[in-house]
Amino acid sequence: MARIPLVMGNWKLNGSKAFCDSLISELKTALVDVKGCNVAIAPPVMYLAQAENLLTDSKIALGAQNVDVNVQGAFTGDISPVMLKEFGAKYIIIGHSERRTYHKESNEFIAKKFQLLKDAGLTPVLCIGETEAENEAGKTEEVCARQIDAVINTLGVEAFNNAVIAYEPIWAIGTGKSATPAQAQAVHAFIRQHIAKKSSTVAEQVIIQYGGSVNDANAAELFTQPDIDGALVGGASLKAAAFATIVKAAE
Ligand code: G3H
Repeated sequence: MARIPLVMGNWKLNGSKAFCDSLISELKTALVDVKGCNVAIAPPVMYLAQAENLLTDSKIALGAQNVDVNVQGAFTGDISPVMLKEFGAKYIIIGHSERRTYHKESNEFIAKKFQLLKDAGLTPVLCIGETEAENEAGKTEEVCARQIDAVINTLGVEAFNNAVIAYEPIWAIGTGKSATPAQAQAVHAFIRQHIAKKSSTVAEQVIIQYGGSVNDANAAELFTQPDIDGALVGGASLKAAAFATIVKAAE
């Protein structure tokens, strides 16, 4: 089955109204002819309404960086999947290592978010990946399997139909030290095989992005790997030319 790659920009805690205006208008121009690759941007949630307006009639989809585990009620400061959907967000990042680390989010808590996104008809982008110490201890596969199994064990493997996994080795995030194409491919193949133990059909269609210091210089080689279906891009997604080059490398 031919999978359509997804290149998604995670702006993290960056931007302003003016930045949003200029970056999105530059991206719309640079990516007007995009084909063979799905593209999304996830600005901070404050700018979703602005981005939704700017992206009208664009092929660039909208995403969000997080969601909460409740839909409605007395949950001060929370944002529900239904609210994200109302503002046009489609791809929602959950389980990013920055949230696992700074907000102590557990695998079980993230699985609950996954469920709510599916219920709302949104696409979860489940981030997984190991620390440098786990990598050096040879625990990469064990960590990735545990993070995936938290979803499979509560929701079943079919939950990964029309979902996205982003393999992001923590040691590669924001460090300029990307995994090599061969290193990333080995983990992506493991992830797909792990899911295939439950369902080869689900495994064949699930999008597995790579994330961690992807830039305009290394993207093309990463995308030659058979199990790398695009990228979740942090820093390089804040520059229109670099992000557009990454998208074109995935086409
Ligand atoms: O969500 C994106 C990742 O954390 C990668 O960030 O491209 O700045 O390394 P980076």
